[in-house]
Amino acid sequence: MNKTILGILASGRGSNMQAICNSIDAGLLHAKVGLVISDKANAKVLDHAAAKGIPAICIERKNFHSKQEFEAAMAQQLTLYHVNLVILAGFMRILSADFVNLFSGSIMNIHPSLLPAFPGLDAHEQAIAYGAKVSGCTIHFVDEGMDTGPIIMQQAVSILAGDTVETLSERILAVEHELYPQAIRLYCEQRLCIEGRNVKII
Ligand code: GAR
Repeated sequence: MNKTILGILASGRGSNMQAICNSIDAGLLHAKVGLVISDKANAKVLDHAAAKGIPAICIERKNFHSKQEFEAAMAQQLTLYHVNLVILAGFMRILSADFVNLFSGSIMNIHPSLLPAFPGLDAHEQAIAYGAKVSGCTIHFVDEGMDTGPIIMQQAVSILAGDTVETLSERILAVEHELYPQAIRLYCEQRLCIEGRNVKII
């Protein structure tokens, strides 16, 4: 089976991107990171990618007249690098229906809560402020909504008395680093089947 070529879109630190690379290096994931795109010029993820010899480019929204042109520039690069699966790893933008349709069924996102609870920004803060006892992380296929696409995997993390955004996000992040490579692996092995809102693991 050919290697799946991943295109990672990320806005910041890039620890999920590194976890995915580590999984590939360890031989656990039969994939290759073809390209990393960040919408932030100073994002650490670009340094991490460059250090691993992965093509890493910055495409900033402010350099385009419209969201459509901005997304077209990203799509062009992803196509140029023959990307089969787009991985959102801390990419803090909502993608339009046009972009989503272009890579239909081949865009994944990770979110630090048990969706549909606490979507959008500041998921950890939302969970703590709500008084939830459990949060966690979700990996889902991306549709045109915000954190609404069909769910692939989820794992719960307890919220402890006295948890802060920092302590909770640290524990959830450790789970994210385990779960995202597993979900990508299932995709690469063609074991994910989307049936409406349901993702069957076959
Ligand atoms: C991760 O916690 C990810 O779940 C979250 O951003 C962080 C990125 O960290 N994503 C979202 O909140 C998307 N709504 P990283 O840059 O170290 O991978």
